[in-house]
Amino acid sequence: MVRIIAFFVGLGFAGVLLWSFVVNLYDNITEPPAPTAEHEFHREPKELHLASDGPFGKWDKAQLQRGFQVYKEVCAACHSLERVAFRDLAGLGYNEAEIKAIAKSYDVPSINPDTGEPATRKGIPADYFPKPYANETAGRAANNNAYPPDLSLITKAREGGAAYIYSLLTGYQNQPTELLKQFPDVKTPEGLHYNPYFANLNIAMPKPIVSDGQVTYGEGAPAATVDQMAKDVSAFLVWTAEPKLVNRHRAGMAVLIFLIMATVLGYMAYQNIWASAKRKVAPKGPLDPDNQAKREAAKAEAGGIAG
Ligand code: HEC
Repeated sequence: MVRIIAFFVGLGFAGVLLWSFVVNLYDNITEPPAPTAEHEFHREPKELHLASDGPFGKWDKAQLQRGFQVYKEVCAACHSLERVAFRDLAGLGYNEAEIKAIAKSYDVPSINPDTGEPATRKGIPADYFPKPYANETAGRAANNNAYPPDLSLITKAREGGAAYIYSLLTGYQNQPTELLKQFPDVKTPEGLHYNPYFANLNIAMPKPIVSDGQVTYGEGAPAATVDQMAKDVSAFLVWTAEPKLVNRHRAGMAVLIFLIMATVLGYMAYQNIWASAKRKVAPKGPLDPDNQAKREAAKAEAGGIAG
């Protein structure tokens, strides 16, 4: 009895599932969903090639240093870099004295030992980059209610990674008239900025890198164009998200080479050990096929005489 009831309950479920599938399919065909502005005008990130790409990638330390400079002079006004300590900058090729000087140029939060009041002190290499805002509320208040996210892991947190950051920084433009023709009611709201690489097309961040030469690069560096600065800061953010990326790739290659060599050695050892065991055993004496044949022949001859 229970089986029969269970069967009909199951049949009921399967029937409802099938029914809703058919109805939805019918609706989708007769009234396809209206296209949205995001769907029509959102763009995939542009291509970006960095020295750190691929299993043989290396850090371009000069580029990382320039990217750090762009972060420090442009992005740091709004974005924190919470997970990076000043001493980590050794990975960009700075020496100890330089790191000390960089740390010292920042005021980090501290406590006045006499009064217990919040205070600031000069940074030391072990400190982490200080945040630009006291808390999220203050950050939102200063940015049209949008919170500038921490940039330490941003290249891992967004699809497209560095290429996305680069595209976002260089993607600001006026809202296309084509878009307004198709979707008259999605005008970019006051205080937001049109950017086709941002998921919903309108971002609260004002264009941060606005003009060539906004950051003054040192000697021997390429010209500080908007494009170059955007590339450099994107490369820097790949490093902040995974400072050990190149070491990890190198270790991976070493392991692969080791495994290949171990396989070759193992195969050679196998051949060596089994060589004597597998050698064809030459039968001797009565089992030698030649002797057997001779014996057969002798037998036949003897039998012939007897018969
Ligand atoms: C004036 C403040 C300000 C400056 C300067 C600034 N940003 Fe932003 N940024 C914001 C705000 C606000 C948001 C949040 C935008 C939103 O959610 O609409 C944001 C968002 C972002 C995002 C995340 C976008 C996403 O997909 O969610 C990235 C990446 C970013 N900024 C990178 C940078 C870089 C790199 C720089 C320096 C070249 C920079 N920003 C400079 C305010 C700023």
